[in-house]
Amino acid sequence: MQKAKVASKTPFAVEVEANKNYAWCSCGESENQPFCDGKHKGSEFSPVLIKFEEAKTVYFCGCKQTKNSCLCDGTHKAL
Ligand code: FES
Repeated sequence: MQKAKVASKTPFAVEVEANKNYAWCSCGESENQPFCDGKHKGSEFSPVLIKFEEAKTVYFCGCKQTKNSCLCDGTHKAL
């Protein structure tokens, strides 16, 4: 299994909109962090698609090593 590139050692705080689709970059290569820009093509990674029921601030994982889907779980602190 390939290891994702650490795009950032801290999470990205994003004000998400209700019921909008977001595609989180899981490979770490996107230049549009924390979201997918298609650079995973040809790798074994694919973006994580997520939608939120309400508008709120969400902390998307930037280190790409989280075990909590696409959200920061504190793993970056150990990098
Ligand atoms: S930024 Fe990846 S776990 Fe926090």
